[in-house]
Amino acid sequence: MGRRKQQRQEAADDDDVYVARNLRGMPWLVWLLFETPSGFAIFSFNSYIFEEENAIELWLKQFQKFEDKSAAINCTTGLGEELRDMLKIWCRRGEKLMVGSQEYKEIIEADQELKVMWGIKNLMHILVPEEQKVLTKEERLPINNDIVETACYLYHCDFLEKRHSKGLHMSDYHLLKISGLNSSEWDTMKLVTALKKITRPGEEIEHPPEMFSSDELLKIEKDADKYKDKIYKTAVSEIWNDLVCSYSIKKEKLRHMQFLVEAAEGGQSNW
Ligand SMILES: *[C@@H]1O[C@H](CO)[C@@H](O)[C@H](O)[C@H]1NC(C)=O
Ligand SMILES: *[C@@H]1O[C@H](CO)[C@@H](O)[C@H](O)[C@H]1NC(C)=O
Repeated sequence: MGRRKQQRQEAADDDDVYVARNLRGMPWLVWLLFETPSGFAIFSFNSYIFEEENAIELWLKQFQKFEDKSAAINCTTGLGEELRDMLKIWCRRGEKLMVGSQEYKEIIEADQELKVMWGIKNLMHILVPEEQKVLTKEERLPINNDIVETACYLYHCDFLEKRHSKGLHMSDYHLLKISGLNSSEWDTMKLVTALKKITRPGEEIEHPPEMFSSDELLKIEKDADKYKDKIYKTAVSEIWNDLVCSYSIKKEKLRHMQFLVEAAEGGQSNW
């Protein structure tokens, strides 16, 4: 296992574990394991939603792609290590975990390590991920797997951005001290682009023209060499690549989501 397992735990670490820890000891909290075409998502919600059909508050906690889903949960081999690790972050002994099928219920119940309770319900109509809420005005939109998976991607892009944001904002201090730039409210993309410009002076770095004011650009260019030893070129470049990729996925997935939602709404009015 070694490296792979360690990487996986790092991926799930920090933010997820921190959030999970703060959710301990809340008896009304129920977990939901949802399968999407390429992976699994874990949601949490308040159990009172079953009493009040309309008061739905469902939160996407984690989405993970699985290369081999049949190894993740399988009636002969049981629960795979990867999926078990993912569940263990969120779900503690005795807590409720809902799954979408009788088969999954049996596999998870048989797992000696997890010992969670189970529930089963038609999950489709309660799946309204955060992003989705913004996009639909229609309360009873039929949610399908594609919508859930797309929402999971969007969640993941946001997650990545949040994760990098903390580290990047550690440079606020230098930007203020060296260039008099107050970057505390800059979004992650603006900040990483500024840092990339600083660490690669003279290079053409693409960004929307409205991202920086001319004063900001001037200061960034003028002071670039004063940031030596303060900002790490390689780290900034890696984060920049990561975020640029994530932004383009996000744009594409948002467009796709719009399409899926419109299709679902259209389908609905035809019926
Ligand atoms: C369970 O795992 C076995 C062995 O890896 C595999 O042959 C089988 O297709 C899997 N079952 C399902 C339902 O995916
Ligand atoms: C930077 O801007 C934020 C918000 O505009 C403000 O709250 C903060 O005090 C500013 N920091 C400095 C050092 O001026």
